[in-house]
Amino acid sequence: MNRKLRLSPNFSLHQSVDGRSFVMGEVEPYAQFWLSDRERLLFGLFGRRGGALESDVAEALMRLMLPANSAAERRRIFRTIADMIEAGVLIEAQGEVSRYGRQMARAYLEHRPFPKAVANRIVALAQAGRETRVLDLASGPGSLALELAATSPRVTSMELSRGFVAAAKQEARRRGLNLNALNENCNHLPHHDGDYDAITISQAIHWLDDVALCKGVCRVLAQGGSFFVVHGALTLPEEHPLSYILGDRTPLGDKQSGAFSDEVLALYRRLSLLFEALDTPNVARHDPTHARRDVDRIAGARIELFRQQRPIGEGFARAFLSERHIAVLGEEKDRFWRDLKARCDAATPDQLIGVQEWGLLHFKRGAARFDANTWRRDMKEIAFP
Ligand SMILES: C[S@@+](CC[C@H](N)C(=O)[O-])C[C@H]1O[C@@H](n2cnc3c(N)ncnc32)[C@H](O)[C@@H]1O
Repeated sequence: MNRKLRLSPNFSLHQSVDGRSFVMGEVEPYAQFWLSDRERLLFGLFGRRGGALESDVAEALMRLMLPANSAAERRRIFRTIADMIEAGVLIEAQGEVSRYGRQMARAYLEHRPFPKAVANRIVALAQAGRETRVLDLASGPGSLALELAATSPRVTSMELSRGFVAAAKQEARRRGLNLNALNENCNHLPHHDGDYDAITISQAIHWLDDVALCKGVCRVLAQGGSFFVVHGALTLPEEHPLSYILGDRTPLGDKQSGAFSDEVLALYRRLSLLFEALDTPNVARHDPTHARRDVDRIAGARIELFRQQRPIGEGFARAFLSERHIAVLGEEKDRFWRDLKARCDAATPDQLIGVQEWGLLHFKRGAARFDANTWRRDMKEIAFP
């Protein structure tokens, strides 16, 4: 097979001072690979807009290298291409760049609806109306962005998965809403041009480089604008049929132990410190992405907590577990899903109930600083969705 391949936009090329080349992953899991000369040349040859055919690149590389044994070199080139595909540095020309793809989008929109009460709270706190310019980061298939688009036709979403972006556009059309859905890496926000009155990020900050994210927010958050971070956590009772895979201790890893409000507070403190450090216009810096002088500084305004009971069944699992998760388990995909479905089918509706907790962190330009030490941690019970 002669595939058309392109460089994954998730990697950037660098050169060490002693002349060695390496690529750096700019999205999770933030991998780094040193490049051999052959890999470095392949990186350049595939780096055409739209990609290139494997055979054309191999021919070009053979001409560059003039090998003594061309049959052996040809084999080495194709082996190197296969290794670079395996590492995710090369992808098919129309390939997905995220662990999430289109096949998950329908289940996501149906089974992971954004909590209405939290969306309404964001709209109220941002005092959003039809003129409000909104940016929703790492927006998935648009669960929150589409809720916000019901208030303002000026919503932009930014998401790495091209499958999720396509699904968000399609869902916006279906609902008759206006959504400017961008397929982009949110870690590039410090280089994004825009001016937004409200920026949101939900269930995704842990995937991102939060220093880059905060720099980006400093760059594109308008005077008086608000930045909202939504942090979610799922708790299942031990006897829940899916606790073996979505519970506190599973082969996918252990969940953080301790109170949810402590987790939210730690995140709030970290982001507050980042904004305090980064949004300081009076420190001299040769950095074009540095804080702007003409606007108030970003500071924490409030934290709110919500608790939602909801069914957690096969649909939620399909909207949550990517193929990479299942690969970690080392299980055959169809068998994994057959077994999971059987466990859910055998349960009563009550046995499928789980709890989702939500933290809403609000930062604002010009906010009177919120005192996290005296925060009362009230939890508001909300309906599903
Ligand atoms: C759990 S989903 C959250 C989706 C949506 N915000 C919500 O709350 O339902 C996490 C999303 O972050 C996206 N993501 C991860 N890293 C990203 C990056 N560097 N740039 C843009 N999106 C990213 C994933 O593709 C995925 O859609």
